[in-house]
Amino acid sequence: MFEAEPFIDEKVKAVKDQVGDGKAIIAVSGGVDSMVCAALASKALGKNLLAVFVDTGLMRKDEPEEVRSMLTEIGINFRIVDAGKEFFSALRGITDPEAKRKAIGERFIRVFEKEAKGFGAGYLVQGTIAPDCIESGTDGKKTIKSHHNVGGLPKDVGMELVEPLRELYKEEVREVARKLNVKASERQPFPGPALAVRCLGEVTPENIAVVREACFIVEDEIVKASKAGRMKLPWQYFAVLLPVRSVGVRSDDRTYGKTVAVRAVESSDGMTAAHSDIPGSVLNDISKRITSEIKEINRVVYDITDKPPGTIEWE
Ligand code: XMP
Repeated sequence: MFEAEPFIDEKVKAVKDQVGDGKAIIAVSGGVDSMVCAALASKALGKNLLAVFVDTGLMRKDEPEEVRSMLTEIGINFRIVDAGKEFFSALRGITDPEAKRKAIGERFIRVFEKEAKGFGAGYLVQGTIAPDCIESGTDGKKTIKSHHNVGGLPKDVGMELVEPLRELYKEEVREVARKLNVKASERQPFPGPALAVRCLGEVTPENIAVVREACFIVEDEIVKASKAGRMKLPWQYFAVLLPVRSVGVRSDDRTYGKTVAVRAVESSDGMTAAHSDIPGSVLNDISKRITSEIKEINRVVYDITDKPPGTIEWE
């Protein structure tokens, strides 16, 4: 049975032992893994830790502001870097999912190297958790996806890795988050490469704006419906923008618009998942809202695939 308190004590000590008087840097995405990791490392290192939030331009709606307020609340030393232009230019013309992940991982580490040099960091703290390692093909398993925080990084990071959450599964990370009063504890998981893997085909600022708004609507409607007792909150729920156009009609005019898939799953650790049974009336609200608020979208579909054979994200 996992116990958060002794785990925290043990890892704070381990991080102190590994880093000593050195300086460390951590990337925070606003998700529970990186925020817990930052809070834990900050307990061990204080001002010798710098948390960096890279605004890749691929984040969820209002994410930079929310991350700023969470970091301020935890009392960590942090910086927010606006790197959207760099990421979009690194992603130009790429449609292959693995190539996208690699390009993002690489750009990420370059941005970090610059921050790390400026801060004089010799250590890179990462919120890698157990499923990331298994699915990225370390530990002798086949690669399913190069998870951003493992296989997506080039070998020459030039900093020693510190990965205190490596043996944990998601529910255990949440337990640690609750103990450390990290507000992100109940947030749904979010992939490292962010909205880029929910935007099938080329990642452009326009496509990201569409999928960002669609994800926001799906989250908003599902949270509202669960608060109203119409359904249970799924483990993870979001929208995916498909590279498919289809014919529709709006105010008597023909449209040739894009398609959004709604995805919601039940899982305990993301390794396997079952699609959620969202009530038809809630799906209807989501569909009506997406097609009326996002002019590019004229079709909404619901993904009823489990994992396996699907994965949770579409890329
Ligand atoms: P898949 O799509 O592989 O996702 O079934 C399993 C869980 O992991 C999340 N995910 C990621 N998390 N870096 C992360 O930290 C990544 O590169 C990444 N890719 C997927 C996904 O949202 C789901 O919760």
